[in-house]
Amino acid sequence: MAKNIWTTRAAVSLAGLSLVGALAACGGSGAGGAGAGGGEEQAPEDMTIGVAMPTQTSERWIADGEAVKSGLEEAGFEVDLQFANDDIPTQQQQIDQMITKGADILVVASIDGTALGNQLKAAADQEIPIIAYDRLINDTENVDHYVTFDNYNVGVQQATSLLQGLGVLDGEGNETGEAGPFNIELFAGSLDDNNAHFFWKGAMETLQPHIDAGTLVVESGQTTIEQAATLRWSQETAQKRMEDLLTAHYGGGSGQLDGVLSPYDGISRGIITALKNAGYGATIEDGLPVVTGQDAEIASVKLINDGVQYATIFKDTRKLAEQAVAAATSYAEGEEPEANDTESYDNGVKVVPSYLLESDIVVKDNIQSLLIDSDYWTAEEVEAGQAG
Ligand code: GAL
Repeated sequence: MAKNIWTTRAAVSLAGLSLVGALAACGGSGAGGAGAGGGEEQAPEDMTIGVAMPTQTSERWIADGEAVKSGLEEAGFEVDLQFANDDIPTQQQQIDQMITKGADILVVASIDGTALGNQLKAAADQEIPIIAYDRLINDTENVDHYVTFDNYNVGVQQATSLLQGLGVLDGEGNETGEAGPFNIELFAGSLDDNNAHFFWKGAMETLQPHIDAGTLVVESGQTTIEQAATLRWSQETAQKRMEDLLTAHYGGGSGQLDGVLSPYDGISRGIITALKNAGYGATIEDGLPVVTGQDAEIASVKLINDGVQYATIFKDTRKLAEQAVAAATSYAEGEEPEANDTESYDNGVKVVPSYLLESDIVVKDNIQSLLIDSDYWTAEEVEAGQAG
């Protein structure tokens, strides 16, 4: 992945921040958190930001962690970055420690969106602003801001790419008149991740009219999110479920399966392994069903380039990291971060002010323009299927 994304931005933000530093010095802002509503300014170099990421098993979260860390450091902050191995007690402990060690602001991508109540209460008691990163934190008033993508639209894009791969929609998203019927199966993400529900809703509201019309058939009948869910977004769990579906409903691989809705590239690769093992063919051209995805992970981008996986959704994690840095900077300045959505993300206790970014559907034909030209991946990385 391109390394120098912060160079230009850093120059801009550092210019801004030296002003903040000067103002903070004049105002004599001393100890104490920046305070979500405190209105006090603090110089970034006097502040530590705790960044809690869920796991290193998925490269997207490693990239997010690195981008947030380098962005915050360029802006002058100290950073305490931790990954939790997809283990909830580990993440709770890491956040406890960040607070004990004096974090001034927290950036949290949760594993389970409802499991951090105690930690966040302790943070709020010390007026530490809490920024939810990519995944909403639910059932607590102690989350101040949310940076993410338009997750409902990600789901719409996933379903759209499935319909395009099957030929029901054209490249512009218009109906082609192709009426199938096509057999499809559905996968969802981890139920404890709020995003999984948004992706599912966006996808199912897009697919349902075609299911109702008989163009799409879910042979297994497994059409609820509970039936389709994949705990912790696990590749192995998805592979196993696909194998079970093939055994139970597709004659172990001899039956016709045309497409699979997958919400994440790791899950897609598990599904593809199961399909290949069952003899569906090595590429889509050879009879492999159309499989969607999300995150533009390099292993999946290679599969798309090789005609194996049909699509993924590109969420530019560099831009998400940039928003997290902007939000932290606002808190350091004693301001509220900018939100562009104050309606969509109700966490059960309050609507969390959010900044939503847009995403794109990636297929073989636009890998170059979306991923390579933007320096997200190099042509060599796409060729090799791994980050260089
Ligand atoms: C979601 C995230 C997706 C994907 C998934 C699995 O919360 O929004 O982009 O990364 O987790 O890690």
